[in-house]
Amino acid sequence: MQTVYQNARKILQKNTKIRSVNGKAYRTVIPSREYYVHQWFWDSCIHALGLVYISEEWAFEELFSLVLGQWQNGHIGHISYFPDEMTYFPDSNYWQTEQFSQNGIISSGLIQPPLLAMSALHIYTAAKDRQKARLYIQSLLPHILLFHTYLKETRDNENCGLLTIIHPWESGTDNSPIWDSMLEKILKNGIPKKIKRIVKEKRKDDTAGNKENRPKCEDYYCYLYLIELYKQAGWDIKKILHTSPFLMKSILFNAIWAEANQSLATLLIATGNTTQSHLFHQWSIQTKKALNNLWDPKKKLYTDRDVTNETERTVVENTVATFLPLFAGLPDNKILNELLFRLEDSKQYKTQFPIPSTAINNPKFELTRYWRGPSLPITNLLIYLGLQSYTHHARCLAIGKMIADKTEKMIERFGFQEHYDPLQGKISEESSNRIGMGFGNFSWSAAIYIYLKNSTIDNDANSHI
Ligand code: GLC
Repeated sequence: MQTVYQNARKILQKNTKIRSVNGKAYRTVIPSREYYVHQWFWDSCIHALGLVYISEEWAFEELFSLVLGQWQNGHIGHISYFPDEMTYFPDSNYWQTEQFSQNGIISSGLIQPPLLAMSALHIYTAAKDRQKARLYIQSLLPHILLFHTYLKETRDNENCGLLTIIHPWESGTDNSPIWDSMLEKILKNGIPKKIKRIVKEKRKDDTAGNKENRPKCEDYYCYLYLIELYKQAGWDIKKILHTSPFLMKSILFNAIWAEANQSLATLLIATGNTTQSHLFHQWSIQTKKALNNLWDPKKKLYTDRDVTNETERTVVENTVATFLPLFAGLPDNKILNELLFRLEDSKQYKTQFPIPSTAINNPKFELTRYWRGPSLPITNLLIYLGLQSYTHHARCLAIGKMIADKTEKMIERFGFQEHYDPLQGKISEESSNRIGMGFGNFSWSAAIYIYLKNSTIDNDANSHI
């Protein structure tokens, strides 16, 4: 009988496509053949964490494949397209970004949470062939440096430490309740008929997958409306920051940004560039300070900030995003206790299969729509990693281990899904015609499973390989 571990490897293999650039082939893992048939930025960063235990070369190829399409200004799109695939919508032509493409790779005009430096640091550290790893990392580093410099210059031009995101897709948490109030405003101002027609005619995710798992029609109106505005602005980020009705300082995105700069500084030190590392260390500290101001001591939640107007507005929602500062090792003892309390509270986050993407007592909780309730392996992993970084804190370590164990269990019992029913793992078949939740044979679940099996403390890694 195939073990779950072997099946995880198989899924990554089956979801692999080849990117050929200048006569060289780069293995690239797509999220799922059921719908997501291109390369997604933060998915790939996660894939590499698992791939390194199968083949070190493959893990590096996954990241190289991401940076091959990097624009000259440093931008790395949240989707890097494969030319032969037109089934996913928006397809490559929709973005009007051809003029920026490099190596023939068309990518989207949006970004995703910057997990690249963390991923590169992990595979560099885990790689056994030190000589090759050093060579690979030296070729990757210029791209990561350019990417970070680009993010800082364009998304934090006011130098406050926090990057601005311009679309819900940039957060990776597309339909989280955090964005509701912004999207309501956009809807209230009216969506052009043309956009509604495009959504009706071209949207495919809700027929490729289960409608109950997918964002609502109104959400899609807003997603495309914003993209249309940015196309009109020629993807000029300065213009966009002046005119967009969606500008957010996201807690999740910025916690990852704080960690990303720390990882980059560590990578630079590890490769002998200590002088260069100081700048990124400073950026990380600056972001952490700014993130502290996003803690609401009354609500006991980290908040997001809507910066579309002169007067900023705080957005308070009890969602999984409030735990992401753990990933940056940010919370002090007092805040840490509040967060741990929530994670252990069965009225909020301690469900049969945690961590729900929205607290189950939040009125906006929905069992099936991915970032409004279901548990996602990707956020579980980032929170687990954060908790493990509190190395002297027994409760953090115990809760972290519980999250890792539950993540493995839900994958073992219900398969490699995109996301899971937090209450019982998989949605009952009466209310759904599909097993599990979201798209199946999902690469992030496979990669995370492999990563956890190799890294959880009380595990004999070799027995699974
Ligand atoms: C969905 C998720 C996003 C992910 C993408 C591909 O859009 O919200 O986080 O990157 O699917 O898996």
